Amino acid sequence: MGTVTMRVFRGDASGGSFVDYVVDVEEGQVVLDVIHRIQATQANDLAVRWNCKAGKCGSCSAEVDGKPCLMCMTRMNAFEPGKPISVAPIKAFPLIKDLVTDVSFNFEVAKKIPAFQGPPQPEGGHRIQQMDVDRGQEFRKCIECFLCQNVCHVIRDHPENKASFFGPRFLVRLAELEMHPLDTVDRTELIREAAGIGYCNITKCCTEVCPEDIHITDNAIIPLKERVADRYYDPVRWVLRKLSGR
Ligand code: SF4
Ligand code: SF4
Ligand code: FES
Repeated sequence: MGTVTMRVFRGDASGGSFVDYVVDVEEGQVVLDVIHRIQATQANDLAVRWNCKAGKCGSCSAEVDGKPCLMCMTRMNAFEPGKPISVAPIKAFPLIKDLVTDVSFNFEVAKKIPAFQGPPQPEGGHRIQQMDVDRGQEFRKCIECFLCQNVCHVIRDHPENKASFFGPRFLVRLAELEMHPLDTVDRTELIREAAGIGYCNITKCCTEVCPEDIHITDNAIIPLKERVADRYYDPVRWVLRKLSGR
């Protein structure tokens, strides 16, 4: 394929800028291959996080030509020949160095979600409907690339909201647990309060960038919003709660 100019962000928390690297690119290569070639031949200190190179570990998230994506799943022939290609770290998390960000916010949020708790195992095991298996399976495809967290305007444009909004990846996790037919934990109050589901205004940007094609908004967030509305804002249920004192 010849050579290409890669405009790669270099810097750390104190600041930085884009640096151009002219690099060879071969047929079939992806952005991560070219970043590795730069690292091997021109900039040994270029920091980049990756692991599987197969779209499964979720480590290599970046913004390539402004679009959040996995570098290992983004082919070089998808770009217009002759034009520089920019590669920047994901924006919603603090920069550590070059293309590597500190995503520990997400691991802290994960700790706040109560784990699955099922009923005692009956003799012969549990039986679950296939539609329930399929529903959970969609959510379990998540590779924790945090691209959805990165594009969600609630935290991307307002980092202060991280204290009160879990973000789309963790609404997916909550949906997975809440829709599990055997789970016995009630997380509705958590979803309304600590997870801050009311902040989401269903723009669907998270769904658009998900490399696993999880229908984050339609299949996870909207059903969770409906559960919260049923519990707290349905007038009939409100009267029943008042009468029963619960
Ligand atoms: S749909 Fe909700 S969670 Fe997804 S990006 Fe928009 S505001 Fe964020
Ligand atoms: S839901 Fe999709 S975009 Fe979000 S972390 Fe999981 S795989 Fe990545
Ligand atoms: S290196 Fe694992 S998803 Fe890209």
